[in-house]
Amino acid sequence: MLTSGGDSPGMNAAVRAVVRVGIARGLKVFWVQRGFSGLLAGDIAEVGRKDVSGWMQLGGSKIGCARCPEMFEDHAPLAAANILKRREIDGLVVIGGEGSFRGALKIAEHGMPVAGLPGTIDNDIPGTERTIGFDTACDTLADCLGKLRDTAASHNRTFVVEAMGSNTGWLALYGGIAGGADVILIPEIPWSKEEVLERLMQRVANKKTFHLVVISEGAGRCTDLAGWLQAQTPDELEVRVTIPGHIQRGGTPSTTDRLFASRCGQGAVEALLGNRGGVMVGEQKGRMVEVPLESATQGPRSIDRKLYELALVLA
Ligand code: F6P
Repeated sequence: MLTSGGDSPGMNAAVRAVVRVGIARGLKVFWVQRGFSGLLAGDIAEVGRKDVSGWMQLGGSKIGCARCPEMFEDHAPLAAANILKRREIDGLVVIGGEGSFRGALKIAEHGMPVAGLPGTIDNDIPGTERTIGFDTACDTLADCLGKLRDTAASHNRTFVVEAMGSNTGWLALYGGIAGGADVILIPEIPWSKEEVLERLMQRVANKKTFHLVVISEGAGRCTDLAGWLQAQTPDELEVRVTIPGHIQRGGTPSTTDRLFASRCGQGAVEALLGNRGGVMVGEQKGRMVEVPLESATQGPRSIDRKLYELALVLA
């Protein structure tokens, strides 16, 4: 197995599950350090149960993640498949996001069965309603907003907070609602600076003394919006910017992420043992499912518009 792309909380729990379920089912299990880059360098080692002791609660990826553009060059997928075959490895588990799955599919074209596990804080993969790390990242963003609320209230300030999430607004929307954001801007819903200003001025008219605006990175830059707002309303709003950035990717995984990651690990082993290569293991309507890995690359998965409407009412 390998972890690939951006790390996410719960990846270690998934690795632990693949190792322990695999060994329990009589398999030899190997891991690859540093994603596809490590695979191409042959950085592969057999793992025992004890090697993953204590990993359930660890953030990041202990076996290392990397983005590997080389995987999309002609020679690389065949080279990767051959390296695995030479080590007498019969199946590959790739824990990552959409880009990682595209790499995995290219390896599969050369006769290597692959199973994908959705590991990303973005929650944007079609075919699964949950990704490993999303729940924890939402907690982190909500926690940031809670802390910013304290200082915003003390100084009567407006904070514009930039959330990760790539080209989707899942993290901004879920974390923003949970953190009590007053305005949430996401790429899926058109918005304008003027409209944001109007909503803030309405809050001022309603005697609200501070405001929390969350903007998803795919919807625009927090610095641009904050600068513009500050220039329009020097008296009413004192604007500050916060970018939690990669803090959203780190930290102890939540219980939900730990359990989901563990079930994903089990699902991957079962899929490969059952000769069902080319699938992603995920969750739909609370049940674990296998979907074609190909379909998991046709993203991004669209956000829940009803939840966006709820955010408008709650703010
Ligand atoms: O896909 C996960 C993610 O954290 C995105 O939310 C973000 O846009 C991107 O990765 C950041 O990537 P990097 O760590 O390579 O800067």
